[in-house]
Amino acid sequence: MPILITGGRIITATDDYTADIYCEGESITHIEPGIDASTLPAETECIDAAGKLIFPGFIDPHVHIHLPFMGTNACDDYETASKAALAGGTTTLIEMICPGPTDEPLAAFEEWRSKAAPLAAVDYSFHMSVVRFDDLAREQLTQIATTEGIPSFKVFLAYKGALDLSDEDLFGMLSMAKDLGVIVTAHCENAEAIDAMQKRLLAEGKTGPEWHEPSRPTAVEADGLHHLATMAELTGAHIYTVHTSCEPAVRAALDARLRGVNIWIEAVLPHLVLDKTYAELPKFEGAKYVMSPPLREKRHQAVLWGGLAGRSISTIGTDHAPFNFHGQKDMGKKAFTAIPNGIPSIQERPALVYTHGVRTGRLDLHAFVDACSTQAARIFGMYPRKGDIRVGADADLVVWDPDYTGTLSVATSHSAIDYNAFEGWPVQGRASVVFVRGQTQAREGEFVGTLGRGQLIRRQPTHF
Ligand code: URP
Ligand code: ZN
Ligand code: ZN
Repeated sequence: MPILITGGRIITATDDYTADIYCEGESITHIEPGIDASTLPAETECIDAAGKLIFPGFIDPHVHIHLPFMGTNACDDYETASKAALAGGTTTLIEMICPGPTDEPLAAFEEWRSKAAPLAAVDYSFHMSVVRFDDLAREQLTQIATTEGIPSFKVFLAYKGALDLSDEDLFGMLSMAKDLGVIVTAHCENAEAIDAMQKRLLAEGKTGPEWHEPSRPTAVEADGLHHLATMAELTGAHIYTVHTSCEPAVRAALDARLRGVNIWIEAVLPHLVLDKTYAELPKFEGAKYVMSPPLREKRHQAVLWGGLAGRSISTIGTDHAPFNFHGQKDMGKKAFTAIPNGIPSIQERPALVYTHGVRTGRLDLHAFVDACSTQAARIFGMYPRKGDIRVGADADLVVWDPDYTGTLSVATSHSAIDYNAFEGWPVQGRASVVFVRGQTQAREGEFVGTLGRGQLIRRQPTHF
């Protein structure tokens, strides 16, 4: 059914104006003041958005839904993850395909796609992890990037023996990515250093979640980032550093950019609002706050917010990776190294960035939209179909209530996880109505849409 949204203040990465938006089919077809509803089809759904902000649908460029990892599986599926994403205002997500080192890339792509297709209520794409790089993998990765429309890879410089690549393979993979125009997203930490630090801490009897951060301090992340940037400098590949958590890592990325490396920086919600004291909570509560790279000292948050405000950091993702406290996180009661890593926030990201970024004056509304939507669309080849409000774009829209106040809770979270890392936190502002390609999918935090309606967004390589 056609949609008319009247009187809202339209905010994009660059513009701020009041007009009506009319959507027919799956796209935005008119944007102008005073569209006369009497000239529109009788079945048009009309939304009065006076006093509301209208944002392009938010894009989460870094999520895990189907994730076999650290001896268990993340607890969401595309039903729970889509509902959570939509309740918060996220209309498109990019999931990491994370196969094991002996799996074939094409089989993994089919496995991940088959989990998404029947249930997704958001639009979605994938980053294809490269965990092996033999002849077969090279052939299949090329097919995935070019024929299947997935021109972004993921590489782990962490998780020694599980997901990491040798330097020889890293060099080869980056060279191939450059030739294909594929951007390589990367988890940057020094896997060998972490392994050694973990062994030393455990041998000293330091087994609790509070030792996770000391096992992989900021220097370990900066070292990983510098290493990746060096390889990108040698190969010319375009790189995107995921979940960049601290000042030394940001500086390493900016130094590389000054050397001419094509590098984009992602921050994720947990590092912006949580600090390492959460992982030090007593009675093993700290396990809820174990992720990698770890939560840092609070002072690093100012660097991340500052980078986002100045746009040297491009995006805010979540790194949503949900593992239950009971039955999953507690696998690591005897050793922090066995706590499944992840702090989920697929639902909470927009409201928390709005509350802690926009309402505090750290980000203006344009930087908010840019980091939470537009940059992900641009970097990953979905712009201007996604990430903007313009005639011809997909009608992915968020009618945002800036006056809403409420608190976050596991009780109102749609994710399947048994805790909320932000339990009881106040928020100001939330997604009031959420449209995906012209259909209402969420209202006031509730899912009202259709499962399985989400589309795989096939993309073209742009990073030559
Ligand atoms: O702790 C994290 N980040 N878990 C998910 C896997 C990853 O490294 O992104
Ligand atoms: Zn990671
Ligand atoms: Zn991740």
